[in-house]
Amino acid sequence: MITLTRAEGSLAEGQAPLRVAWVKEGRLLSQGEALDARLGGLLRRALEGASLKEGESLLVAAPEGQVLLFGLGEDARSSGGRLAQAFLRLRFPEALVEPLPEAYALAEGLLLGAYRFDRHRSEKEEKALTLRILGAEEVLERARKVAEGVYLARDLVNEPPNLLTPEALAERALELRALGIEVEVLDEEAIASLGMGAFLAVAQGSANPPRFIRLRYTPPGARARLDLVGKGLTFDSGGYSLKPTESMTTMKGDMAGAAAVLGAMKSAALLGLPVEIRGYIAACENMISGRAYRVGDVLKTLSGKTVEVMNTDAEGRLTLADALFYAEREGAERILELSTLTGAAVVALGEEVAALFATEPAWGSLVQEAAHRAGEKVWPMPLEKAYREKLKSPVADLKNVGDRNGGAITAALFLSEFVRVPLAHLDIAGPAFAKKGHALGPEGGTGFGVRTILELAQAL
Ligand code: BES
Ligand code: MN
Ligand code: ZN
Repeated sequence: MITLTRAEGSLAEGQAPLRVAWVKEGRLLSQGEALDARLGGLLRRALEGASLKEGESLLVAAPEGQVLLFGLGEDARSSGGRLAQAFLRLRFPEALVEPLPEAYALAEGLLLGAYRFDRHRSEKEEKALTLRILGAEEVLERARKVAEGVYLARDLVNEPPNLLTPEALAERALELRALGIEVEVLDEEAIASLGMGAFLAVAQGSANPPRFIRLRYTPPGARARLDLVGKGLTFDSGGYSLKPTESMTTMKGDMAGAAAVLGAMKSAALLGLPVEIRGYIAACENMISGRAYRVGDVLKTLSGKTVEVMNTDAEGRLTLADALFYAEREGAERILELSTLTGAAVVALGEEVAALFATEPAWGSLVQEAAHRAGEKVWPMPLEKAYREKLKSPVADLKNVGDRNGGAITAALFLSEFVRVPLAHLDIAGPAFAKKGHALGPEGGTGFGVRTILELAQAL
């Protein structure tokens, strides 16, 4: 656990068992220079002949406590993340950190980089570590509130699927009531009487019942409204179109879209953002049993449109079809939807970049710009109408898969059949789950999307 607190004064005057000075292209920054002058050139001598790249460090023993010289890269957020990880390894109880002009990005990076998921380990890191950072309290406070939401999203993604069932996810959503967010949870019976036939079909193979979760954050005098939909598959085995084991290993994270919605709503409430935010999550498992849906089944969606199931592993779009239609019926004027929807998006853009599809360019641009400000990588993809015919079914209005080609696009086209208002769809199958540690956190859930949603809400 790392706590960020504000420090006053400067690196040279401050007292701490460890002081951190940044090094860029072999040089100290201004506060590091001042400290070095006080130490009679000790730091400069230590740097001689060394070349510190981003994330690399040198620990120097100085008369008034040690100094960590730390390589600064292009991006203050990533460098902060790397520093937090180095600090966790060194296990000094406390350090004083030199400020950067990008004060907010640094604070956010420090908090995100320090994230650990050790809930299920017998040996936990009990030690509380404190980073004292020179700079404004406002900046730290905002970073803490944003990080809380990202941490929640990561925790939910990392939680194993035997523990995070649809009911458990709903329980976690209900906890947000403590922040003044309204949360309603619909059980299987209520979902059935609404007529969410596609969502229900995906859910029916599991012994763990589905839950439909709706959330509402309504600050007084809200200046705009944002409607969010998140894919909430707490586990995706593929169903009868079964996935191989290797592909199933990250499928506890198939609710990362839902996690981003919950995380962002938590942060929005903590920050008191002046925008009304509504969230919708169709939570279920995609499993195999005598009750499971089959290849060939024809489903009636909430919209009335019928869908022929050609692959039970294309389940996310079925649950989302009903959730999206429901969101619009509840008055959404435009929707941002996030889902770990297709492996094809990962093939196209790799594991770090989310695919962005928008039914209206202006809405897509707002999302893209928000992601850019948030430091989350997204790239626009075309909702190519010519491929719409790939989804034609001989027996129903639509089928749930196209052919092998353009799989992320046909999935997005499928979703767009269920909404009329502007829709931005973020396929986060790549960046939602990190297969190895990175600058801003360990392997596992990344909380991708939380920061983009917050930037978007702020821009409305
Ligand atoms: N949850 C998966 C998509 C996914 C793949 C997420 C890899 C994260 C990493 C989704 O439900 C799925 O199985 N999609 C299929 C669609 C196909 C059957 C048309 C896929 O991508 O293979
Ligand atoms: Mn699937
Ligand atoms: Zn899935």
